[in-house]
Amino acid sequence: MEAIDIREYKPEDEESWLRCRALAFLNTAYYDNVLREKEKYQNPAIELVATIDGLLVGLIDLECETVPNTVCSARPGLGAMIWHLAVHPDYRQKGIGTALLSRAADIAAKRGVVRLEAWTRDDPWVQSWYECRGFRAVDSYLHVFIDGASELKGAIKSEIPGLLPVQAFAHYVGKEPEAIAGRFKRVHRCALYERRILS
Ligand SMILES: CC(C)(COP(=O)(O)OP(=O)(O)OC[C@H]1O[C@@H](n2cnc3c(N)ncnc32)[C@H](O)[C@@H]1OP(=O)(O)O)[C@@H](O)C(=O)NCCC(=O)NCCS
Repeated sequence: MEAIDIREYKPEDEESWLRCRALAFLNTAYYDNVLREKEKYQNPAIELVATIDGLLVGLIDLECETVPNTVCSARPGLGAMIWHLAVHPDYRQKGIGTALLSRAADIAAKRGVVRLEAWTRDDPWVQSWYECRGFRAVDSYLHVFIDGASELKGAIKSEIPGLLPVQAFAHYVGKEPEAIAGRFKRVHRCALYERRILS
């Protein structure tokens, strides 16, 4: 395989970044999570891309805390949240994701970050990818897609005359996740993964 170059994201990468991300998420539980503009961050960010022969084939974005628990969950130490990590489907399993994560973690550690966090939905291969790279699941809740009259009935009601819900997306943080998973067709367990890194 041609050499992989990992470098900082530049504004002119935006179109390729959006396409790579959309394609990467197509075969995951985030298949409908398509962006049309790249996110901008309030805190210092580490935004890297991987290219092969000039073609953008992978990306990672971390937002780094300068004050603990302002971006990440309430756990000890300065954290950085992995908001985006994606490798083009035609370039998977070649070490690109690992290389992006490793470079980003090194930069974060030099900035005093002691832990990384990432949210994932329930794709077992993605979760095991994180676990094989030192992450462990520390929290979770449900993402619930509510679709059509039968699922909406008794769950979602509009209080605005003439506004008729057709679909809804909800977070479930209650104590009966099995009942929710049994009641709606599309339910994902959204898990928070954490990895402690040295600074
Ligand atoms: C997760 C992801 C970033 C990994 O990138 P990658 O460049 O393929 O990963 P690497 O080559 O560094 O690592 C290869 C590992 O991933 C696993 N893997 C990658 N793609 C896989 C697939 N489609 N099915 C099963 N396993 C896969 C390999 O088995 C291998 O495992 P191991 O090294 O632990 O044995 C990439 O698959 C991806 O873009 N996924 C979709 C987007 C996503 O889920 N992002 C993270 C959640 S926010």
